[in-house]
Amino acid sequence: MKTVITYGTFDLFHKGHYNILKRAKELGDYLIVGVTSENFDIDRGKLNVKDSLMKRIENVRNSGFADKIIVEEYQGQKLRDIKKYKVDIFAIGSDWIGKFDYIQEYCKIVYLERTKNISSTQLRNEGKIYKIGIATNREDDNETIVESKLVSGLSCEGVFHPDKKKAKAFGQKHQLDYWTDDFDTLLDKSDILFFQMEPGSGGDFKDYLMRAIEMKKYVIYDGYSLEDPKDIIALHKRAKEKKCPVFDNISIAYNRQFDQLLWYLKGNIVGNLCSLNINVDSNVFENGEQNTDKILYLSLYVATKIFDGRIKKLSKFISKDGNYYSVYFVTDEGEVKINIGAGYEIESGLEVIGETGRLFIPDDWWNLRYYRIKHYNKEFMQRYSFNHDGNGKRYLFMEVISVIESGKYPKYKVLEEDSVKIMKLIKKLKDM
Ligand code: CTP
Repeated sequence: MKTVITYGTFDLFHKGHYNILKRAKELGDYLIVGVTSENFDIDRGKLNVKDSLMKRIENVRNSGFADKIIVEEYQGQKLRDIKKYKVDIFAIGSDWIGKFDYIQEYCKIVYLERTKNISSTQLRNEGKIYKIGIATNREDDNETIVESKLVSGLSCEGVFHPDKKKAKAFGQKHQLDYWTDDFDTLLDKSDILFFQMEPGSGGDFKDYLMRAIEMKKYVIYDGYSLEDPKDIIALHKRAKEKKCPVFDNISIAYNRQFDQLLWYLKGNIVGNLCSLNINVDSNVFENGEQNTDKILYLSLYVATKIFDGRIKKLSKFISKDGNYYSVYFVTDEGEVKINIGAGYEIESGLEVIGETGRLFIPDDWWNLRYYRIKHYNKEFMQRYSFNHDGNGKRYLFMEVISVIESGKYPKYKVLEEDSVKIMKLIKKLKDM
């Protein structure tokens, strides 16, 4: 008996998929089809898959060619499968020529010609494309544009900057289709507005935000930039009336690994928690922008997610030169210390200390690419690392698309009460 194996995502099942399965089956007697898992696709940066794993498996099964369907979950699994199932032939589309030469040692490789003029990518792009317009008073885009490209169904098209010259420089630098100093133009041309505006630096930011909501645009904004919790409440109230979601741009909140980390902590992976230390060297935070408000907002979000009890003993310390800012508070669950420094040699990192162990995210913890856990009674450390590069805004964009397309509103990662709670804390700290 000749066993053949082939792999694919098989998203939006199409003629090309049918043909390749048919031809693969004709190569032998028994066909195994590996369908990629959602996690594997996300890990390898394929964030645009539309169909669920169940649906993709169902479609492969309905083709009638597969004798066995398996799930491909990690890089390197192919060799394991080939040995395990004693595969004779590895069949794959001609677009992969040369990519799997290492398999030759284990079985025969047959490249099958791709069916012309059809692909999942093409089908996905026939769906609705949501146009993003950036409203900014900064010069850099903080990777918004490259990150949005990783999520299908989105296209970043233009920029508004209250300063005409800066709008042009921004648009040209990032090769956008248009740039403008007229906010209404951006409103007209966009479905989603991405605000990256610092409060009080040109243009009436709050007015722009409200106008976007009045026009029923989806809005992504930085909660800290609203400064007053009452404004956040007003924004959400109007957005709810307009049935148009607003998203708070705290990238880490949308990162799946952060969710996992929170569940680990809630599941007592390091025992009862007692202390959280958050350090940020603001020279290395987002192009060295040194935006203490933004860093504080992000740090408080993370702190209040890890320790969600009532906050007591809130205090702050600012160095004489103003370059070192520290916040301390206690909750029923433990104590929190946040240190933010520019020019002081603070080593960035986030550390959670529990009764039985310690969890540590070194360096740029806000991008969450790696963390480790040390259990006090064990010699070894558990290490978790993730493949994504970039700053993870792609996860925020994925959430935006999924909320828009499912119409399930509100279903947020950052809830209105999160934003309000943090902003109230910041206001208290400012009044101290
Ligand atoms: N395939 C094919 N002809 C096509 C499209 C895909 O023969 N027109 C083959 C691929 O070469 C691969 C298998 O079908 O061996 C599964 O491919 P997959 O990546 O799931 O499909 P694509 O349509 O190529 O998806 P995407 O556009 O997301 O890359």
